[in-house]
Amino acid sequence: MAVTVKSAKEIELMREAGRLLEIVHDEMAKMIRPGISTMDINEYGDKVIRDLGCVPNFLNYSGYPASICVSVNEEVVHGIPRRDHILKEGDIVSLDAGLIYKGYHSDAARTHAVGKIAPEVQKLLDVTKQSFFEGIKYAKAGNHLFDISNAIDNYVTPFGYGIVQDLVGHGIGTSLHEDPQIPNFRQKRKGIILVPGMTLAVEPMINMGTWKVKWLDDEWTVISADHSVSAHYENTILITDGEPEILTLHE
Ligand code: MF3
Ligand code: CO
Repeated sequence: MAVTVKSAKEIELMREAGRLLEIVHDEMAKMIRPGISTMDINEYGDKVIRDLGCVPNFLNYSGYPASICVSVNEEVVHGIPRRDHILKEGDIVSLDAGLIYKGYHSDAARTHAVGKIAPEVQKLLDVTKQSFFEGIKYAKAGNHLFDISNAIDNYVTPFGYGIVQDLVGHGIGTSLHEDPQIPNFRQKRKGIILVPGMTLAVEPMINMGTWKVKWLDDEWTVISADHSVSAHYENTILITDGEPEILTLHE
């Protein structure tokens, strides 16, 4: 499928989809504490999405059974919420959420600390978040797509962390996943040239140990192969004539 360039009208709808998803994340963040279940987060996130008049785009996507992906500790992404999975002090929890607003998709992820966490785990969270910002410094019209990938790798690799390779970022618009694929690690090729109006989900997934991952028997949950903790940070962005616009974050 070709990479889509959104019209001014479509960009307005993408902006609104992004703005509403930020509200969902802010709401879910407030509930994170020891003692809640991963299902509690999914149910609340699903409710906030629907109360905003939107539809959760992950639910039933290729059969995924929930609205929010909730991934704890060594779970990288696509954790399935469970009533009996209770968060405890010192855990980290990655929340990946997306919604559809008037036919347009947004997608964003955050990793949160549950209570007090170890300083080395906090550093993984900080580096993962910063790697997104390092990457999107290159998300400018005229640059090549893989400038973003290389910038993320350049920033993360000196910390000794493992950059997940089996899952990547993606274009987004009237579908959750559009071309192009956006790796978070060094590429030999340059990739496509970025053009204003492209909307992209940039989403580094970083493991404290090996970059290798495996899938659990539920066929969804991705974990680090060495069971080291893993963080995820994602926003939907818009390529403009100047700096990229982050549609799912307005700090
Ligand atoms: N943010 C995820 C992605 O970009 C979406 C979760 S996959 C789903 O791939 F199946 F849970 F929807
Ligand atoms: Co995504």
